[in-house]
Amino acid sequence: MELPGIDTLLANAVAEDLSIFHPVSPSGIAIAALAILVLAITGGIWLIVSSVLMYCVVRFRAQTGDTHEPPQVYGSMPIEIAWTAAPAIIVFILILVTTRTLWEVEISPPAPTAGDQTLFVTVVGRQWWWEYQYDEYDGKKLGFITANELHIPVSDPAQPRRVYLQLKSADVCHSFWVPRLGGKTDLIPGRVNSMWLQTDQPGVYLGQCAEYCGTQHANMLLQVVVESPAEFEAWLKNEAAAALEVESAARGRDVFQSLSCVNCHAVRGTIAAGTYGPDLTHLMSRVTLASGQIANTRENLREWIADPQQIKPGCLMPAFGLSDRELDDVVSYLESLR
Ligand code: CUA
Repeated sequence: MELPGIDTLLANAVAEDLSIFHPVSPSGIAIAALAILVLAITGGIWLIVSSVLMYCVVRFRAQTGDTHEPPQVYGSMPIEIAWTAAPAIIVFILILVTTRTLWEVEISPPAPTAGDQTLFVTVVGRQWWWEYQYDEYDGKKLGFITANELHIPVSDPAQPRRVYLQLKSADVCHSFWVPRLGGKTDLIPGRVNSMWLQTDQPGVYLGQCAEYCGTQHANMLLQVVVESPAEFEAWLKNEAAAALEVESAARGRDVFQSLSCVNCHAVRGTIAAGTYGPDLTHLMSRVTLASGQIANTRENLREWIADPQQIKPGCLMPAFGLSDRELDDVVSYLESLR
């Protein structure tokens, strides 16, 4: 089935959007520098070894008619010392720089305090989408949940704004990796991992679940929207509010609430309080559906509800066999959730 998808939305995106060599965060810069150093050292070793090998292959190849073995050399102490010491020194250097980078990248989250402009989010990996629980910002409790599109404020040198993530899993192992914003961190059932994000450059940064987690592992797109503090705070205010009551969507709301939608999905301010599927309170504030698989338009939303399995085979939402009229009503209701 062909639906306008993320490729349309990202038509202008370039390959470097997913490259660790174009970092925009302090941890990304530290990791890229380490990667370049390791590549330079190992590349140098490869170049020396392959040049010597090629030289020997060509220079000492067997001559026609020459059948005697070349001289065999054993027990040269200087050579033994050289090829033990040189790799040991190289490995020691790599251990030192890697440890230093780990120290730079791993920062444990501070306690939230008023005026710190720091954001705390709990990320829950699920088959096959991302849940974001907004815990605290600027020392104030938030307590709302959204899905798939992580909004964070841009930092600046005068006022650094950090985002601390706590990473958990609701089912199997997933991995959070937005290459330009930093390293990969796994989301492991029964364990809480943490990482932090910080960047001075606004924009949308993409990533992908980086640990095989089942059939739809490839459709767990990560989208991090980095926006100005004013834009971010406006988004925060909208997301924190309960769902809008739109009179014209009342019929669709009744259909939605009469079905088992409410067992899995929450719409804050209504009887829908399920926690198994994505929170739909402000569904239309999201650009994509199905964890970045398709654009969030009325047509796509209708196709999705009619039969999610056609779009994301194996996903945990079944088709409910709604009539055309019920489908239209439910879509109208969902479209009112802005
Ligand atoms: Cu989640 Cu792969």
